[in-house]
Amino acid sequence: VTAEKGGYEHFMLKEIHEQPKAIRDTLAGRIKEGLIDLTQDLSFTEADLKKFDRVHFIACGTAYHAGLIGKSVIERLVRIPVEVDVASEYRYRDPIITPSTLVVVVSQSGETADTLAALRAAKKAGAKTLGITNVVGSSVSREADEVLMTWAGPEIAVASTKAYTSQLVAIYLLGLYMARILGTRTEEVLKKSTEALIQLSEQVEGQLIEAKTDAIQSLAKEIAKHEDLFFIGRGLDYAVVMEGSLKLKEISYIHSEAYAAGELKHGTLALIEEGIPVIALATQHAVIEKTISNIIEVKARGAHVLGFGLEGDRELKKSVDRVITIPDTLPLFTPILSVIPLQLLAYYTSVARGINVDKPRNLAKSVTVE
Ligand code: G6P
Repeated sequence: VTAEKGGYEHFMLKEIHEQPKAIRDTLAGRIKEGLIDLTQDLSFTEADLKKFDRVHFIACGTAYHAGLIGKSVIERLVRIPVEVDVASEYRYRDPIITPSTLVVVVSQSGETADTLAALRAAKKAGAKTLGITNVVGSSVSREADEVLMTWAGPEIAVASTKAYTSQLVAIYLLGLYMARILGTRTEEVLKKSTEALIQLSEQVEGQLIEAKTDAIQSLAKEIAKHEDLFFIGRGLDYAVVMEGSLKLKEISYIHSEAYAAGELKHGTLALIEEGIPVIALATQHAVIEKTISNIIEVKARGAHVLGFGLEGDRELKKSVDRVITIPDTLPLFTPILSVIPLQLLAYYTSVARGINVDKPRNLAKSVTVE
């Protein structure tokens, strides 16, 4: 069994460590002369892309959290409005779908019942559909009009890790490719972005060295003693803490909530009491100061703040109790790097609590019932 796990104690840890390769493999063959080229994957013409006036991301669970990042990526790079829905909601809310809607379904397995049903409904309503999936020959890969594969390799642990980061890579590829074809970004910006994308796998590798994972393991031992905690962030950091919170819930059974940092004061702040851990992710330059002021608010109410911030950042360090650093990249790409310590935190907390990491109670790897 350990041989299957490549010497790792659990599949989840193995899969966390496979992320540099999954990122590289998902990029492979899709960069030509320093620019993203998806002509081997997608049959969209320039005219097709020009026609889209809205994009919908639809998915469940972790893949939904990838879709939340997708909204920022497409809106910022291409300036087309994007909506993100969990699949089980999308189908029943009578969404506005037209032939100029691009519906992107994200699914590791390509078999999630709700996601498939939403894909079929979108097709029926006349949308163009694109599947981002990790399984060749899966239902999503067969039924979507266009397919962009993630090459994460088989994911065994119920809690998704390398599938998520690979989905983010696929989304960056899609956004940069659309920006290139539609001319919404200059070649110079696109080349710079592509370089940053290529660096990500090495940066993730650097985060997985023992000295770094040991620091998270010691944090996890503290976290493991609590029954409630909060995650806060703004913008892309908010989307990433939603994923961090889900990971922790799935495999540690600790109750946590992910909150938009600026929204805390509208209710949730009432739950902050002495000693409660608050995990604050602050990597987005444009809103770091705002997040810091929210950190100060929770600290004033006794929270124990664990800050996750960029390597060069000095301000965050001053306002938190402990700090974990994340390598710097373009703000849009930070989620790939910032999710890594949150995955590790969930993993080590689960281990510290003696939980079955790879097969948590009540959950399935792929949910094929609605
Ligand atoms: C299940 C898994 C999650 C996963 C979700 C969507 O709930 O436990 O880890 O994110 O399904 O799966 P999919 O295969 O569609 O990405």
